[in-house]
Amino acid sequence: MSKIAKLHINGSQYELPIVEGTEQETAVDISNLRSQSGIITLDKGFKNTGSTKSAITFLNGEKGILRYRGYTIEDLSEKSSFLEVSYLLIYGELPSSNELANFSNEIRSHTLVHEDVKSILDGFPSRAHPMGVLSSLVSSLTAFYPKSLDPNRSIEEINGTIIRLIAKLPTLAAWSYKNRMRQPIMYPKNHLDYTSNFLYMMFGLPTVETEINPIIAKALDKLLILHADHEQNCSASTVRIVGSSHASLYASISAGIAALWGPLHGGANQAVIEMLEEIKNQGGDVEKFINKAKDKSDSFRLMGFGHRVYKNFDPRAKIIKKAADDVLSQLGINDPILDLAMKLEEVALNDDYFKSRGLYPNVDFYSGIIYRALGIPTDMFTVMFALGRLPGWIAQWKEARENSEPIGRPRQVYIGHNHRAYKNISDR
Ligand code: MLT
Repeated sequence: MSKIAKLHINGSQYELPIVEGTEQETAVDISNLRSQSGIITLDKGFKNTGSTKSAITFLNGEKGILRYRGYTIEDLSEKSSFLEVSYLLIYGELPSSNELANFSNEIRSHTLVHEDVKSILDGFPSRAHPMGVLSSLVSSLTAFYPKSLDPNRSIEEINGTIIRLIAKLPTLAAWSYKNRMRQPIMYPKNHLDYTSNFLYMMFGLPTVETEINPIIAKALDKLLILHADHEQNCSASTVRIVGSSHASLYASISAGIAALWGPLHGGANQAVIEMLEEIKNQGGDVEKFINKAKDKSDSFRLMGFGHRVYKNFDPRAKIIKKAADDVLSQLGINDPILDLAMKLEEVALNDDYFKSRGLYPNVDFYSGIIYRALGIPTDMFTVMFALGRLPGWIAQWKEARENSEPIGRPRQVYIGHNHRAYKNISDR
């Protein structure tokens, strides 16, 4: 017998079904509350409101658990590859060796973009932030693949769009960097693996042979896995709600990139490095900045600490911190910023002010340090986040379409003027 919640308001009682997930998460289904009672709920930022039922990612903020389709990120980041994890998120199961080979080969053969994209790229000034360029270029793909405008087309058509997006995003991301550097773009080399090809297009130059360090390529692959999905975060919710209007997958992903750009979301990894550089440039006195962060009258805020969902630790930060250590020692890099970050973490984790507020390093705290070590410039950090998050966004969009979810249309509580008569300008 299904459980129900009883709501007593203004002398009436309303019965609302209780929904329970496979990990015993419980929700009150308010889908019919307004039609029964004329009453809605209010939850700014939707922090207590489920927007959907999803089978893609499970996270437990209290226990620091993160699983993609039931597999832990600890297992996947250690044993899998980004393309295999992309397949898992999008199609729901780990691929067989043949399925993975076909998926990888399909992607390898779609890495080129239409030559006219270069004309669009050339229209951006070199100071254009790569995230703005990337969002625009992804949206422009609709012009070159107009059949994608109808997201209700055949599964084959949708899969074609999915393959093209996964294949072309690294090319577009690398080209947005080349635009920033005013360097000639590099075309993909399809004999390279996914992350090596991206690094080649980022750092290669037509005048020299570019060797890709396998340590860097492997570290980047792990970082992309750790960023691949995170259930209904801001950008994933954006992709779902844009997709709910039956906008194309390209348009939905372009909107997701725009949402990720914000410093409160994917832009946080760039803000962390800028904060660490500020601390270093002002003498590296960690205690001083810890006290500034605690001082309400001081505008300084500690970036990369705490999380809306994780209450004790961000499981991705633990993995990334070890990867940062490994990568820097393997590359023989002694980055004072990493030393500063570890000192800042140590001080913060032993300070009751931060512990009591659940302020501990999140995924953004260490990712920027690795990106720096890999030679990736700061304003490309969020582009790296977008590269990693792409399969998660695609999986979320696809799940909503397959479940025929309705268009997203939240309600509101109106707090403006009551009815008033129009006043002629002479009477105002
Ligand atoms: C993410 O991975 O999307 C970020 O941690 C933000 C979030 O989940 O809210």
